[in-house]
Amino acid sequence: MRITMIGTGYVGLVSGVCFADFGHDVICVDKSASKIEALERGEIPIYEPGLDALLARNVAANRLGFTMNTAEAVKGADAVFIAVGTPTRRGDGHADLSYVYAAAEELAELIDEDTVVVVKSTVPVGTNAAVRDRIAAKLKEIGRDIRFHVASNPEFLREGAAIEDFMRPDRVVVGVETDHARDVMAEVYRPLKLRDSPVMFTTLASAEMIKYAANAFLATKITFINEVADLCEKVNADVQEVARGVGLDGRIGPKFLHAGPGYGGSCFPKDTLALARIGQDYASPMRIVETVIDVNDRRKRSMVDKVLDLCDGNVSGKTITVLGVTFKPNTDDMRESPSLTIVPALVGAGAKVRVVDPEGRKEGEALLPGVEWVEDAYEAAEGATALVLLTEWNEFRALDLERMATAMETPRMADLRNVYSPDALQAAGFSAVLVGRDP
Ligand code: UGA
Repeated sequence: MRITMIGTGYVGLVSGVCFADFGHDVICVDKSASKIEALERGEIPIYEPGLDALLARNVAANRLGFTMNTAEAVKGADAVFIAVGTPTRRGDGHADLSYVYAAAEELAELIDEDTVVVVKSTVPVGTNAAVRDRIAAKLKEIGRDIRFHVASNPEFLREGAAIEDFMRPDRVVVGVETDHARDVMAEVYRPLKLRDSPVMFTTLASAEMIKYAANAFLATKITFINEVADLCEKVNADVQEVARGVGLDGRIGPKFLHAGPGYGGSCFPKDTLALARIGQDYASPMRIVETVIDVNDRRKRSMVDKVLDLCDGNVSGKTITVLGVTFKPNTDDMRESPSLTIVPALVGAGAKVRVVDPEGRKEGEALLPGVEWVEDAYEAAEGATALVLLTEWNEFRALDLERMATAMETPRMADLRNVYSPDALQAAGFSAVLVGRDP
């Protein structure tokens, strides 16, 4: 198969590289010259474990290339994927589809007969049909008479585990309208069938809905356990035990029941907001999702109170060391990270905030003004009043707690990811707050 990938953001780049690794011929297009030049040098603009090696391997095998020239890249393609951004539109919370539509209209001038135009970006219900109509209208306008097909192929990969998720997905969802689109997409994903990952064909609208419903459900699951955690604190239950006991019910499942400082990232906040807006537009309100958004926003703020309580209500002039600021480990992504609420609030309360994060500094420096960046956790603990563990990077999971405690002015820890057991913290002399369990 010849595949073109429009957009080398997170999803586009990972998908392009992985499709090449399936054995397809892939060309990735981006309008940014600096991005394309960097990719041609083998440099990737994001931090994703294993992606650089996979990219190099497929470039060397002549299956993967990068260009700014869309016309050249689209020529002879069996499938052209649109994987451009759909950020939250300022003002109304809807997904901004202008990049998707611009890409679709440009394609109308370039695609060959029977090309399948596949939307991989996360888009509201009805967008794929609109893409089809816009391409058709553009073709008419410029007097081209060719047959084309659309497909909706949402992506379910997680940052930090993107390659594994792409190569071994629980399922692949493809919305189609024609047999040809179905055949081409079945061929694109044939290597996964050999690994027993089901490829599920649906209508365009169902595929669009599946993506939003899945992300909203996962966000709900997290938010649910977060509220259960709050109640556990009041009734002296342990949310870790509760989550395990609940998750062992096969109907519920153990994943995404880890209580923490609230979900963040480039997907859950954006997609829950977009789904709530879609519900309002169709007078079919998604009340649970609306509540999830509200509860999660408040949660990030309530984490600040937890830290203040730990410090006897006053952090003014005190050094607070924050371990981890990215929205989760194994990524350099800071989008909607709880740290963006918690760190400025601590700075605002007069704390001297030191930050340690293996990958977060590049993006974080501009987003978190007034903090000191330190490379090493032990150095960062020197003279600190409290540690705030915000992102569960591996290097923060096995700290020598006694060494940390000795370096600090007062050994206090707000472990907002429940990485350490109450026993371990106590043994090292920490006074602590955890999430949903007694310290
Ligand atoms: C999420 C979905 O998990 C992917 O399936 C989906 O493809 C992706 O969004 C997307 O729409 O592109 P991602 O945002 O990379 O992936 O990260 P997750 O691992 O899902 O974590 C999201 C947030 O939830 C993080 O802030 C994480 O710390 C938090 N989380 C997750 C919890 O607080 N508790 C949990 O038990 C799980």
